[in-house]
Amino acid sequence: MKSTTKLLAAGAAFVLAAALSSAAPAAENWENLCAKCHGADGKGQTKVGKKLNLKDYTDAAVQAKMKDEDIIKVTTEGVFDKDGKEKMKAFKGELSAAEIKDFVAYIRKFKG
Ligand code: HEC
Repeated sequence: MKSTTKLLAAGAAFVLAAALSSAAPAAENWENLCAKCHGADGKGQTKVGKKLNLKDYTDAAVQAKMKDEDIIKVTTEGVFDKDGKEKMKAFKGELSAAEIKDFVAYIRKFKG
């Protein structure tokens, strides 16, 4: 094998490995799965977010009331109203426990 070919093969293997590793960064997951409601900036001021009366994660008081384990629990199990109607879906099916845990630091950063 010529060395350039070897290099190309190594590059392709690397790209493949990156694509196969399941964990996406929290920022990417937030953008794809959460921003629609909670807003890219975490303020909850999206069309859906306003309707759902979502909290402003840039507000220190909101952050203070929210425990790390609540963030994990809510994202894992979802939110349901008292009649059992889904307000926010559970993400345990599409995200790993590690990816869900990464939201804690990500959400804390909105406080600025
Ligand atoms: C369909 C809109 C929607 C999407 C998408 C969504 N959420 Fe929520 N989220 C909600 C609603 C509604 C609540 C409950 C608010 C309440 O009870 O007052 C909530 C609550 C939360 C809470 C609990 C703290 C709070 O604000 O009450 C966290 C943490 C949270 N969401 C994180 C996420 C993360 C992380 C994602 C993406 C993986 C996500 N949400 C996606 C609608 C959504």
